[in-house]
Amino acid sequence: MRTQAAIGVFDSGVGGLTVVRSLTERLPKEEIVYLGDTARVPYGSKSAETVARYSRNAARFLVGEGVKMIVIACNTASAFALDVLRAELALPVLGTIEPGARAAVAATRSGRIGVIGTLGTVRSGSYVRAIAAVDAHAHVTAHACPLFVPLAEEGWLDDDVAAAVARRYLRALALDAPELDVLVLGCTHYPLLRPLLTRVAQEVFGHEVTLVDSAQAMAEVARGELARLGLLRDDSDGQGALRCYVTDDARIDEVGHRFLGRHLGEIIRVDL
Ligand code: DGL
Repeated sequence: MRTQAAIGVFDSGVGGLTVVRSLTERLPKEEIVYLGDTARVPYGSKSAETVARYSRNAARFLVGEGVKMIVIACNTASAFALDVLRAELALPVLGTIEPGARAAVAATRSGRIGVIGTLGTVRSGSYVRAIAAVDAHAHVTAHACPLFVPLAEEGWLDDDVAAAVARRYLRALALDAPELDVLVLGCTHYPLLRPLLTRVAQEVFGHEVTLVDSAQAMAEVARGELARLGLLRDDSDGQGALRCYVTDDARIDEVGHRFLGRHLGEIIRVDL
């Protein structure tokens, strides 16, 4: 039965487990099939064409697993491949950008919104377009913060090195947009840096800055979409489960649990 099928989630690597975590909190009965393309991570520094090709491979794998919906956990893949996958696939496909944009517009009072993400996500201009589609008067300033990805994977979440990097990125953002009051965490890895970013943003901007987590915003939208389409898992005794596939397993044990917030269980290696 379609309702009993799993939700397919893919990402360039382990970062998308932050989205799985948010989905599991909101949809504890759903089964999730996760694919981390760890052999080809990072997507953030690659071209639109390459990211779209990798995303097609990942989505094809999940369709083969019989999923009822595809969630693109990776912001870079959402920026470059959402339209392609929606046009090609006969099942619902969700990305992170639009939910993040809506949450940002709902949270801002000044109408000045900052977005941080990978080089690819920022260069794509997708958050700027998505926010303009929700509120044409909002001012959006986007900055790439590529060093946050290795810091999060290394587990350097709140030490002197991470703080120095955060200060440097956020000061550059503050030069362009000193009045912003909302900052979108437009990358799978950034929720791990949330306590640090909250503190450094307050220090750099001199006022409170609300951090919007695109992973949480996306999980809310996924729940709403499943309900709207009549695809929510219906057995009241159902226990959610996570099946985890990766394209390379060299560091997954060491790094994955930081993003998921618990141990991953069995991890299956696949070739795409
Ligand atoms: N998952 C990517 C994103 O959210 C970050 C890691 C990468 O560059 O692949 O944009």
